[in-house]
Amino acid sequence: MDKLTSLAKRRGFIFQSSEIYGGTGSVWDYGPLGVELKRNVKDLWWSTMVHQRDDVEGLDTAILMHPKVWEASGHVEEFTDPLVECKSCNRRFRADLPEVEGGQCPVCGTREAFSEPRLFNLMFKTFMGPVEENASVVYLRPETAQGSYVNFLNVQTAARQKIPFGIAQIGKAFRNEITPGNFIFRTREFEQMEMQFFVEPGTDEEWFEYWKAQRLDWHLSLGINKEKLRFHDHGPDELAHYAKTAVDIEYEFPFGWKEFEGIHNRTDFDLSRHQEFSGKRLEYIDPVGGKRFLPFVVETAVGVDRTVLVLLADAYHEEEIDGEERVVLRLNPRLAPIKVAVFPLVKKDGLPELAINLQKDLRAASIPSFYDAAGSIGRRYRRQDEAGTPWCVTVDGQTNEDATVTIRDRDTLQQVRVAVDQVETWIRERL
Ligand code: GAP
Repeated sequence: MDKLTSLAKRRGFIFQSSEIYGGTGSVWDYGPLGVELKRNVKDLWWSTMVHQRDDVEGLDTAILMHPKVWEASGHVEEFTDPLVECKSCNRRFRADLPEVEGGQCPVCGTREAFSEPRLFNLMFKTFMGPVEENASVVYLRPETAQGSYVNFLNVQTAARQKIPFGIAQIGKAFRNEITPGNFIFRTREFEQMEMQFFVEPGTDEEWFEYWKAQRLDWHLSLGINKEKLRFHDHGPDELAHYAKTAVDIEYEFPFGWKEFEGIHNRTDFDLSRHQEFSGKRLEYIDPVGGKRFLPFVVETAVGVDRTVLVLLADAYHEEEIDGEERVVLRLNPRLAPIKVAVFPLVKKDGLPELAINLQKDLRAASIPSFYDAAGSIGRRYRRQDEAGTPWCVTVDGQTNEDATVTIRDRDTLQQVRVAVDQVETWIRERL
């Protein structure tokens, strides 16, 4: 993890938030390469979950919602972690941490240090409007899902969808985690890609199995190592307050097997609670036969940041090439922030101009690319290997004679000669 964190900073994937002030607790910023990787993850998810289907609609709801939403959803009452406080250093910890269960404070070392556990709500609170009073409390949403539930009928009617259908959202969520950590694994501000699939009660278990398989396939399609993915079924003591059944998709991170996607059968828990708290009917009326019912929801919920961490951890390789060590990110080309780097072999004979022109054409074609003329060709390759760039194009002496360049593959290290005017097509064919 240390190597990954330092590579992420060095190459401009991820920086600590407000670093010059000593950083903020478990909040991270995405640099030039990180933002591209994150956008590619979100675009691929959106393409699979929304564009390639006719039964899922997109939505983008606000972070701030009516405070009653969170009473209805059960988050005000249930979204808590048990917390203990060290009597000596006053640090707070989750009561279920193995270090804490022994009774010794992991920070100051005091024995029998802890207070009785208290429940601590994970939602961030703020105030709407100029008066800071109880009546104006609002919460930063801890999941995007509720925005989809309260808009269920709006979307269904406007899009003229019939059940079964889904609502997909990508957006920020906030949780005041007591023990954040492991880089971007558990943070206090993060992004989710969630899809709520509304089905007729009685068909929910079938749809649960369907989405479980779909979601695993998606992760495999990104090129994530199959051996490092597994399902974990929730036992009764692990289930969230809204779920009848739940399964996690876990990845074997350097710090162990951990969840990065959850698939939940939320039954009609959320819709029936919103119906009760708002006093508005949220039933679906079947256009054929006029049957009225509250749909059940099968949810797929994956973190963008956690997916980025999975992808970085999975792509990171150290290897020896001709006696030299290299670090390489074997990212799927569709996810790679830079698709192609362009180098002049030497800074003479008009090669830089040819390379700059080629990169200009790639830019105009919206292919993320990078021009580099600094240092030996070997060093330039190493920098791109660390950035996960799948192809490096070198303009050399032969380019002046026959208008061809070499394209070097990041993973196989093989080089092929391609006509300059064919480079764009060559790259496109492989994305
Ligand atoms: N709407 C259901 C829901 O929010 P969850 O299992 O609590 O379910 C879904 O969260 C996903 O969101 C997780 O699998 C994880 O990828 C991501 N996530 C949750 N809390 C996170 C945190 N503190 N930091 C980063 N990602 C988080």
